Amino acid sequence: MMTITLLGGGNLANHLTNVLLNSNGCDLSQIYNRSIEKIRHFEKQTKITNNLDDLRDTDIYILCIKDIAIKEVSAKIAHKEGLIVHTSGALAMEVLQNNLRKGVFYPLQTFSKEKNLSFDNIPICIEAARPKDLEILHSLATLLSKKVYNINSLQRKKIHLAAVFVNNFVNHLYSIGKDICDTNNIPFEILQPLIEETAKKMNTLAPFEAQTGPARRKDYKTIEIHKSECSEEIETIYTVLTDAIIKSKSHGN
Ligand SMILES: NC(=O)c1ccc[n+]([C@@H]2O[C@H](COP(=O)([O-])OP(=O)(O)OC[C@H]3O[C@@H](n4cnc5c(N)ncnc54)[C@H](OP(=O)(O)O)[C@@H]3O)[C@@H](O)[C@H]2O)c1
Repeated sequence: MMTITLLGGGNLANHLTNVLLNSNGCDLSQIYNRSIEKIRHFEKQTKITNNLDDLRDTDIYILCIKDIAIKEVSAKIAHKEGLIVHTSGALAMEVLQNNLRKGVFYPLQTFSKEKNLSFDNIPICIEAARPKDLEILHSLATLLSKKVYNINSLQRKKIHLAAVFVNNFVNHLYSIGKDICDTNNIPFEILQPLIEETAKKMNTLAPFEAQTGPARRKDYKTIEIHKSECSEEIETIYTVLTDAIIKSKSHGN
């Protein structure tokens, strides 16, 4: 059975730890985190440590730590014989400081510690320097999810960029919507069905086809009224997005 060391105690690390501990096909032998208290709750299920010199030898080392720390921490464990992978969408595989046995195991989803998620349908993007290691990552990924993709570093960078648009920016727009509701004594939940239907439409329609609203209709009168109701900062965002929608074409922008 493949043995695994997971490094990290944050959002993704917590989710991955839980799913790996509950998976029959692998053995999560140890967890490392710089701050031991953040992984204390796993102590009964596996070995925990905050000392990199204490790590046992395992088949795979999964780095679930901040992007900025990946280079440094991978250098500190570069002498290990096992396969070392990071989980970042933004970084190339080559950021890992060990020699040949390196790879990437990137689950394409938004993970927050507080929100439970099933891994079943989460796309897992894998990459490895050696074909044999890609097979190992494929075996691990298929234990967790039905959706496994071979994605190289360049493609993953583009996926990450696209993900910022469809997740982070959309999420920020939810915040703006919530602020507008809050300041006008309107329950934010009133927008929930609209939020859900907007996302559901992506299962059957292309984004351009699904678009409605004043910008798509080129209803300049309503657009001007909306702008007059916005603060300066929100008006800037409104104007950029409205202009982009007006200019957009069905084949893309
Ligand atoms: N969250 C997501 O939705 C998501 C999705 C896909 C991929 N990822 C990737 O997963 C990785 C972790 O992201 P996250 O959101 O889980 O981060 P996070 O919740 O902010 O956790 C950060 C982790 O990095 C550790 N860390 C930070 N600086 C360190 C250093 N200098 N040395 C050692 N450890 C250090 C922290 O240790 P302490 O606890 O000691 O501070 C903590 O364990 C990133 O590469 C990210 O790109 C995240």
